Amino acid sequence: MKALANINGQILDPQRAQVSVFDRGFLFGDGVYETGRSYDRVFLFLEEHIQRLRKSAGRLGIPVPWTDKFLEDQLKATAKAFGKDNVYFRVIITRGEVSQVGLDIATENPTLVILVQDLSEGLSRLRSEGYYLLTSSVRRNSSQSQDPNIKSSNYLNSILALKDVKERGAMDAVLLNVDGFVTEGTTFSIFSVSPEGKLRTPALSVGILDGITRRHILKASQGLCNAEEGAYSLEEFQNAKEVFIASSVREICPVYQWDEKKYQAPGPLTLKLYEAYRKGVENSVKNSPHRY
Ligand SMILES: Cc1ncc(COP(=O)(O)O)c(C=O)c1O
Repeated sequence: MKALANINGQILDPQRAQVSVFDRGFLFGDGVYETGRSYDRVFLFLEEHIQRLRKSAGRLGIPVPWTDKFLEDQLKATAKAFGKDNVYFRVIITRGEVSQVGLDIATENPTLVILVQDLSEGLSRLRSEGYYLLTSSVRRNSSQSQDPNIKSSNYLNSILALKDVKERGAMDAVLLNVDGFVTEGTTFSIFSVSPEGKLRTPALSVGILDGITRRHILKASQGLCNAEEGAYSLEEFQNAKEVFIASSVREICPVYQWDEKKYQAPGPLTLKLYEAYRKGVENSVKNSPHRY
């Protein structure tokens, strides 16, 4: 078994797990989600994921009638039934099922879907070999249109960017905002190490997702290097000794090439930060109540 699903509290074989064609998540991408992983049967930073899920749902006016404990218990039950120590999880909440097609924000019964699956086998190779990125010609949605800080089920902005760069041979894409400042990747936060050795990452105000890994990397950097968040032009941000990407599932992966720029991958600060980040992970896992 490679995956297991839970729909509205019922654990199901993923082949038999179905949501209605009248579900707003299917019709309009009208839902929110969180993705994360477990380490040795512990869901990492689960409070932060649930908090962000509620925040995203709140921005869209999608009710979340379930308690944090219920959500956690369902996640644990699904992972337990799946039976693996290290899993990928996805929690999705949509505005729910309607009786006929039509754009509306009314909602009575949101849909809750939990997916648990094996972590991708290629992860450790990506962590050691790194990424080839291209800057997409597709700009990141502005905070005034579809705010990237809402982690919604509609990822067409990222999909358009990914399509653009995959057609040009890259592994993944970085998006600029409409003013030309570096934001983030299709599904990851981005960091660089300036020529002076300063850790840099785009500020939340340029219009990015408030990444959970990003927060923990900034925390882990204290005592290791100076760090700053800002609005960086592509040229300024790429003028770096090291570049790496970050997300809950991938943790930290180096970048060996971004457009024409080549970087040592992984670079020395990237390695140090990875070590510090992993120490934080180990501490959280040791003291975590989120064990299944
Ligand atoms: C657009 C985007 N930015 C950043 C991230 C990284 O966020 P996190 O570290 O919370 O996984 C993700 C993860 O899905 C994402 O989709």
